[in-house]
Amino acid sequence: MCVLDLRCIGISRLASRKPASPPVFLQCLHEHKTKKVTLLHPISEFEKAHSKAESMSNSILVTGGAGFIGSNFVLQWIENVATPLVNLDLLTYAGNPANLATLEDDSRYRLVRGDICDAEFVAAVLRDNRPRAIVHFAAESHVDRSIADPSDFIRTNVLGTFTLLEQAKLYWSGMDEAARRAFRFLHVSTDEVYGSLGWDEAAFSESTAYAPNSPYAASKAASDHLVRAYFHTYGFPVLTTNCSNNYGPFQFPEKLVPLIILNALERKPLPVYGDGSNVRDWLFVEDHCLAIRTVLERGRVGETYNIGGNSERKNLEVVTSICNLVDEFCPDDGSGPRKDLIKFVADRPGHDRRYAIDAAKISQELGWRPSVEFESGLRKTVAWYLEHRSWVQSVRSGAYMDWIRQNYEERVQP
Ligand SMILES: NC(=O)c1ccc[n+]([C@@H]2O[C@H](COP(=O)([O-])OP(=O)(O)OC[C@H]3O[C@@H](n4cnc5c(N)ncnc54)[C@H](O)[C@@H]3O)[C@@H](O)[C@H]2O)c1
Repeated sequence: MCVLDLRCIGISRLASRKPASPPVFLQCLHEHKTKKVTLLHPISEFEKAHSKAESMSNSILVTGGAGFIGSNFVLQWIENVATPLVNLDLLTYAGNPANLATLEDDSRYRLVRGDICDAEFVAAVLRDNRPRAIVHFAAESHVDRSIADPSDFIRTNVLGTFTLLEQAKLYWSGMDEAARRAFRFLHVSTDEVYGSLGWDEAAFSESTAYAPNSPYAASKAASDHLVRAYFHTYGFPVLTTNCSNNYGPFQFPEKLVPLIILNALERKPLPVYGDGSNVRDWLFVEDHCLAIRTVLERGRVGETYNIGGNSERKNLEVVTSICNLVDEFCPDDGSGPRKDLIKFVADRPGHDRRYAIDAAKISQELGWRPSVEFESGLRKTVAWYLEHRSWVQSVRSGAYMDWIRQNYEERVQP
């Protein structure tokens, strides 16, 4: 655990200073990097200043909008809603602004690069953009990475959420009565906080006791508890959603679905943990985004809503379905069916057996239901990865990080 991580939350105070050479906060962030914090691109003074240049009042603020679900949410929002959207994202390895390149000239969208752990920076973004709601996606999200090194997960998911909540509460406290009543803070969380289900156990409901088993799940559980406490203690108008596994366009290729699609395409081994019998519930990402918008618009303040796809599948079934789709789209070249490439590997430590979501509450109270069947969603997803080879190539090669450097860091060079 990197103790410096915690101290570096105070780096925000340096944001208003003139750039030194190199600025102290950059040294601090570089030190993060050497201590295995996944911060790949130091933040420049330019970005902080630039982000404060104009106002997007009456917007919504999204955190982590350059990640997998966040990108899909931002695109769906701009396509369907008139309200402008400010995207606060640190652009870690998982954040790719190229996902949102189509919005570059859209006056209703702005990307602000920064860290939710940076209290002064978050306060400035709130002050300058005057959002009427916050949708909080930003997180470290990959369970395997959390097992290898939990420190980033504690920093972003726990301390970052705390910092964001605290600054948002201060901002909200200064609003007039009508604006305070209308304000919402929607926290996006996961079904993994509920732990593991037996084969015959009832699906997770909103009253299932928390029992997180991985450092990722524990960090998300801690953030959920903080969000809940801000409602009960301060009356801060929060909403929480706990969703099952998402799949769809723009997912970082280390996650199961894109990993298997790309390995199958290239005829590489297809790693499956244990015997492949672990069960997850799967939801097409666009359905998740629509559910979040529904909760934001009509959810009852202080409530939690479980979101799921009614699509429980064993991991081995998911992998086999992907193999069959890739075989169909890219017919056999004589090398045999892709499912022959499946390779069972040592199980993930503490691997949860089964997750299943009871989404009756959101369905009955708010009328949301998943609209995409797993089989058709998976077909769309495989087709998307096959049609977006240049996106895959740029993510795998890290070329999008060059883009970030050009667009953010090099612009401050004399
Ligand atoms: N992927 C899933 O299946 C799933 C399911 C349920 C819930 N969730 C939750 O949804 C949210 C989004 O998940 P995802 O899969 O899109 O994650 P992701 O890893 O693809 O994206 C996370 C985003 O957060 C940004 N970020 C990370 N640290 C930050 C920081 N300190 N400050 C600002 N931005 C930061 C990253 O740059 C990235 O753009 C997470 O909170 C996750 O727990 C994910």
